[in-house]
Amino acid sequence: MYSVEKLADYSPEALDAVAASLLSALAQEAAQIADEAAWKVFRDRWMARKNGILTQVNDIWLKGAPATAKRDTGRRVNELKQAVEAQVETTREQLADAGSEARLAAERVDITLPGLRRQIGVEHPVIRTMNEIVSVFRNMGYSVGEGPEVETDYYNFESLNFPADHPARDTQDTIFIAGQQHRPQRDRLLLRTHTSPVQIRTMEKQPPPVRIVIPGKVHRHDTPDATHSPVFHQVEGLAVDRGITFCDLKGTLDHAMKAFFGSKVQTKFQPSFFPFTEPSVEVYISCIFCAGKGCRVCKMSGWVELLGAGMVDPALYGFVGYNSDEVSGFAFGMGVERIAMMMYGLDDIQQFYLGDVRFLEQFA
Ligand code: FA5
Repeated sequence: MYSVEKLADYSPEALDAVAASLLSALAQEAAQIADEAAWKVFRDRWMARKNGILTQVNDIWLKGAPATAKRDTGRRVNELKQAVEAQVETTREQLADAGSEARLAAERVDITLPGLRRQIGVEHPVIRTMNEIVSVFRNMGYSVGEGPEVETDYYNFESLNFPADHPARDTQDTIFIAGQQHRPQRDRLLLRTHTSPVQIRTMEKQPPPVRIVIPGKVHRHDTPDATHSPVFHQVEGLAVDRGITFCDLKGTLDHAMKAFFGSKVQTKFQPSFFPFTEPSVEVYISCIFCAGKGCRVCKMSGWVELLGAGMVDPALYGFVGYNSDEVSGFAFGMGVERIAMMMYGLDDIQQFYLGDVRFLEQFA
């Protein structure tokens, strides 16, 4: 490492030689500066007032010069001082330039490179089927509504003609919210077991005519198996107007089933019971897997049950202030998962909920 030695010879040639070796050491050290910390050490080594190389040059070379060489030495020492100051400053600038170049290089964006393609999610097959069902009814002029998943006993049962203790309540195993015993039964909260409460909510809000479909999630205390899930989806439909008959119900649902499953599919309406419709029906379609010949899916019957429906029981109009002498209507409620299973040929409803991407991406 360079250090300032005492001079024995002050001849111009000797001064030239020591100046040259100082400058070469200066250049060598400057070339090795890689960061700001190193630069500070370098600056102090050469320029610190106390014991820096320049100070030593002054103290050792200039002060030790014989009178005859003082002038020449002083001039050279000044030149060296300027050279050192200039080198320290240039090194600092180079360092700053290199830093911003490195930053720019790191931030450089090559807009000619192909972009990164991010995988975009798609609708879950159940949601997709639900939207398809809704759009078939929108095309028939129905509007779309929704309602709360946490319902009162009044909307889920009482206003739909299920009085307290009516045995039909047992057909919909209900999940009640805990800690409601202090409330009157009609105000107790539960997870809605079907989308039918929205029939009442809709009629309360608007006078007839009504044509609406309501998609949504429902909950039942059902044990999961190949065709049952405790959480599933329904699409409810309601049409109320003057002069609506059972023929309108049949025509509308027959059209919808053909729109879902193709024009060859047939529908069958079989008597059933729901407290809020009279008469009530279960709607069957001819099995799309065996074209009605009989197979495992339709349990050899040729028919598959898909939804419940019926003419709105006039008792309901009393709950919402409609005049049952003037209006009539029909309602239906379909299980979305069951329809999706038919559309995609699936035999286990649980596959929808496992979240297995290998299964789900087949519907993308
Ligand atoms: C009802 O929920 C009535 N609210 C339907 C209705 C609406 C009738 C309007 C008349 C007028 P049901 O309990 O049958 O009916 O259920 C309707 C559909 O939901 C069934 O046909 C079936 O497709 C589906 N479903 C019922 N339980 C489950 C379950 N645990 N898992 C999956 N789907 C189910």
